[in-house]
Amino acid sequence: MPRTLFRLLLFATVLPVAAAAAQVNWSPPPLGLMPAPAAVRASSGRVPITAGTTFALTGVVDDRLRTGVTRLIVRLQSRTGLMLSRTLTTPAGSATVVINCKGPGFTTPALGEDESYTLDAGAQVVLNANTVAGALRGLETLRQLLLGDAGGFFIPGISIEDRPRFPWRGLLIDVGRHFEPVEVIKRELDAMAAVKLNVLHWHLSDDQGFRVESRKFPKLQQLASDGDYYTQDQLRDVIEYARQRAIRVVPEFDMPGHVTSWVVAYPELASAPGPYELARKFGVFDAAFDPTRKETYKFIDAFIGEMAPIFPDAYWHIGGDENNGKQWQANPKIQAFIKEKGIKDAHALQTYFNQQLVGILHKHGKRMMGWDEILQLGLPKEAVIQSWRGQKSLVDAAKQGYDGVLSAGYYIDLMNTAASHYAVDPLPPTADLTSAEATHVLGGEATMWGEWVDPETIDSRIWPRTAAIAERFWSTGQDPDVDDFYRRLAVVSVELEELGLTHLRNADVLLRRLTGGADVAPLRTLADLVEPVKGYQRGGQQPWMTTLGPLTHLVDAVSTDSPGARATTALANNLLGDAPRFSLARNELEARFTQWLEVRAAITRLADQSPALREVTPLADDLAAMGEIGLDALACLSRRIAPDAAWRDAKLAALDRAARPKAALEFPFVTSMRELVIGAVEQGQLATMSPAEWRARVRSLAAPPRRGRE
Ligand code: ACM
Repeated sequence: MPRTLFRLLLFATVLPVAAAAAQVNWSPPPLGLMPAPAAVRASSGRVPITAGTTFALTGVVDDRLRTGVTRLIVRLQSRTGLMLSRTLTTPAGSATVVINCKGPGFTTPALGEDESYTLDAGAQVVLNANTVAGALRGLETLRQLLLGDAGGFFIPGISIEDRPRFPWRGLLIDVGRHFEPVEVIKRELDAMAAVKLNVLHWHLSDDQGFRVESRKFPKLQQLASDGDYYTQDQLRDVIEYARQRAIRVVPEFDMPGHVTSWVVAYPELASAPGPYELARKFGVFDAAFDPTRKETYKFIDAFIGEMAPIFPDAYWHIGGDENNGKQWQANPKIQAFIKEKGIKDAHALQTYFNQQLVGILHKHGKRMMGWDEILQLGLPKEAVIQSWRGQKSLVDAAKQGYDGVLSAGYYIDLMNTAASHYAVDPLPPTADLTSAEATHVLGGEATMWGEWVDPETIDSRIWPRTAAIAERFWSTGQDPDVDDFYRRLAVVSVELEELGLTHLRNADVLLRRLTGGADVAPLRTLADLVEPVKGYQRGGQQPWMTTLGPLTHLVDAVSTDSPGARATTALANNLLGDAPRFSLARNELEARFTQWLEVRAAITRLADQSPALREVTPLADDLAAMGEIGLDALACLSRRIAPDAAWRDAKLAALDRAARPKAALEFPFVTSMRELVIGAVEQGQLATMSPAEWRARVRSLAAPPRRGRE
């Protein structure tokens, strides 16, 4: 079996491989299927894709499917450079690609849609689906199957049966902190469709901005958006764009906390007198709706009544997170209300508020969804819980009969690696849930909170990592081989760029801007070796930043999954794993370390012309220091000279300095450098233990003194 297909099959449910497949003796270029289908069977044939390739639709044909097929043809055309016909062929028997859709499914996308499909490439490519949504998912797989070799472009012989593991596979985009124009949202929808996500959770209001046009309450957009909001026509346009891709749009209007923007416009909604100003910084603010006044509910009722027809989805997200209760505590009228009604505390008051909201939402045909703070005694069972503070609330909710969606572990704004997000499962085998309770776990959502992204950088913060999360939501739940996972992620990343995503190219735009037009190569070398600080450390590193600040620093241009760091770590592992010879990867490491010294000199020169780079020079110094340490360690290892403890302590101290974040960036491979140093010092121990024991010893002695992911 071809090695790449074998790897693909490792994490798919393997169907019996047909006899013909056992005789496969060609080796196709690597497939980049992501998310991995539920079941894949390889076969020996191939369906050529040529200028004569034709497409046919049979069964149900609607506008979503027609435009979906046209999109596929355009994409195949741009990839292949072939002039392909967009005219659909009849009869189907003569077409290269036949899409047979048995029914329309939900014409407005809805939870519970059948998204399954089968795809067979033999004499023809035949895609079968029960619904248009299923057919659209299959078309994305077909797009990913295109391969090329000396014989031309082709779809490899393959048989796929596929269906999603979870019905709710979402991406939250927060446009409250930084506004994202319609064209940005549309390209995110294209990317979501490409990786089979099916819910756009649109976080439309927050302390920093109110982002939709209300005709009933126009001061919302007039006073609380800085002019950055969606008109109602734009909202409808985006929702239709999503519908065409079988993606639901769930709006979130966060309340009773996170409402500074509302009360800038209508201070009477707040629990403390105004006036209020839009928040420019990030964090939790005090403004909270007054849950004791009838007028508050009249306002919300009228607002939701205006918005509900625009958002056709059955679910409506009311937020409900991070209400700090300070305004409620300080307001004597609210405290008197609590006493009079026998309400226990602020949590119970928020539940009272939510109970009123449930009634309002019912009136407008909507079902409530909220962040896990809303899971309190008395919450109506129809509410859907979105777990963000930990997986426990998802389990608690399911046990109590609430549907839930997991976001803890999928906070992509925390700048963690794709692999770390991938490791989180909404329903791990260890989950303490009966199979009936487990049905309440609907899936998950990646969350792109907007504090540190703008239209230029948002793509690189969402993609390609969210493709990994999408696989977790769609595929079997088995863990793939990490190297192959990153290989496929790189394939998908380039495909996403073809779809119009800017995550790769905008990094270069930022580097060019930083160097003032000079050669970016040295800066790119450094950029490839660092990662943004994880968690919410950036706010601490750049305390002056507000929503109005520039997102044009080096940290905005670098990936969360440093390719250079991964490569350096792999090389150091190879070298030390090859004890006592230490010959594997030595030359490559030497070249790398030498280059790091050159990078320092080049970046220092660049910073003289481009002062924006001054914050980067300490990192270039650290990199050069690590290069010198690496060269020293290599020399000791290759000459079999074990340096003394003073040498070791000096090197480890320098590595500690390099490990400290600078310019909101960090080197993720410092531990590997520590291992090289310790490895050099510990060479003598190889006489007394096996290479494997020695490697374990080096690892444990090199473990960094403080906790941290490296
Ligand atoms: C949240 O991150 N406050 C839901």
